[in-house]
Amino acid sequence: MIPETLHVWTCRRYGGPEVLALETRPCPAPRAGEVLIRIVATTVSSADARLRSCTLPRGFGLLGRAIFGFTGPRQPVLGTELSGVIAAVGPGVATWQPGDAVIGFTGGRLGCHAEYRIMPAAGALVAKPANLSFAEAAGLAFGGTAALDFLRRADLRAGERVLVLGPAGAVGTALVQLARLRGAHVTAVARAANRDLVAALGADRVLDSAAHDFTTAAETYDVIADTVGATTFARAHPRLREHGRYLAFAADLPGMRARPVGTKRSITGSASERPEDVRELARLAAAGDLRVVVGRTFAFAELPDAHAYVSTGRKRGNAIVHVSAPPPRA
Ligand SMILES: NC(=O)c1ccc[n+]([C@@H]2O[C@H](COP(=O)([O-])OP(=O)(O)OC[C@H]3O[C@@H](n4cnc5c(N)ncnc54)[C@H](OP(=O)(O)O)[C@@H]3O)[C@@H](O)[C@H]2O)c1
Repeated sequence: MIPETLHVWTCRRYGGPEVLALETRPCPAPRAGEVLIRIVATTVSSADARLRSCTLPRGFGLLGRAIFGFTGPRQPVLGTELSGVIAAVGPGVATWQPGDAVIGFTGGRLGCHAEYRIMPAAGALVAKPANLSFAEAAGLAFGGTAALDFLRRADLRAGERVLVLGPAGAVGTALVQLARLRGAHVTAVARAANRDLVAALGADRVLDSAAHDFTTAAETYDVIADTVGATTFARAHPRLREHGRYLAFAADLPGMRARPVGTKRSITGSASERPEDVRELARLAAAGDLRVVVGRTFAFAELPDAHAYVSTGRKRGNAIVHVSAPPPRA
């Protein structure tokens, strides 16, 4: 069923959470090859908070504004991922039908901070695994696809030793689990408050970030996954083994240009947003091999509070926003 109107949260100028506004729009009907999804849950990700505040890594100020918009985001409805229910399908769509429970990843196209969202039927859209709640399902894709992409580019092998900086966030919680699934030995550096969470995700060792400085410790690693821009390749490479890789998820401009040092290299850039990666994450979650960490949850009316929380940089797992009621027994 297609309602006449829907609510969306918009960000029309960069600033604090107070710039966000609830607006009413006509609800679009799906065209050929499209589906209309009633959103049950979404996330406020680190990317949403960055975009709202235009807080970009060093060196990206002007370039970022040229790409995303000079005074506010060009796409004012933020939100990269959703879980929900197909409300209507456009002509020619045979793969989905109204009532199907789905996970959608719109990535850089955003638009999930809304009650309804149109997506291509053949896009990054997968059936919601029955063992995941809608809240968990909403947090599957953003951190998971980034972690998958960087681990693939690092060609992580069984038996390699991985250091994870920022293991408690959306990217970190996925990365710890995906690295373990590939048979790597994972050392995570986290605040004491996140120790139990990270250990429960399978990290072989959890070190207290208040007491441990990996740059001065003797141990070396095959991969250092810096999910939060905690350090730089220049500081990390002495702690890499031969052929070691530094994964810079939040590199600044100088970090993007870091050249290899001998056989050691830095991997940077934007993660690809591949539908097959979302399918792979859903498959792992359905098999019970990948857990989505639900940190704090918020009502749709509280979405600016979720932004304020994410902007603290202390988010655990995913900040979930409940948008509408889940269907019975989905
Ligand atoms: N390249 C890409 O395509 C791509 C894709 C996705 C995300 N990203 C970027 O990756 C970064 C992480 O994303 P996310 O969603 O995982 O973030 P997040 O969920 O907001 O990360 C929060 C976690 O980071 C940890 N943390 C914060 N500052 C830290 C520091 N200085 N040192 C160590 N740990 C720190 C905190 O753990 P403690 O409280 O234990 O310190 C917290 O649990 C963001 O900058 C995002 O923009 C990049």
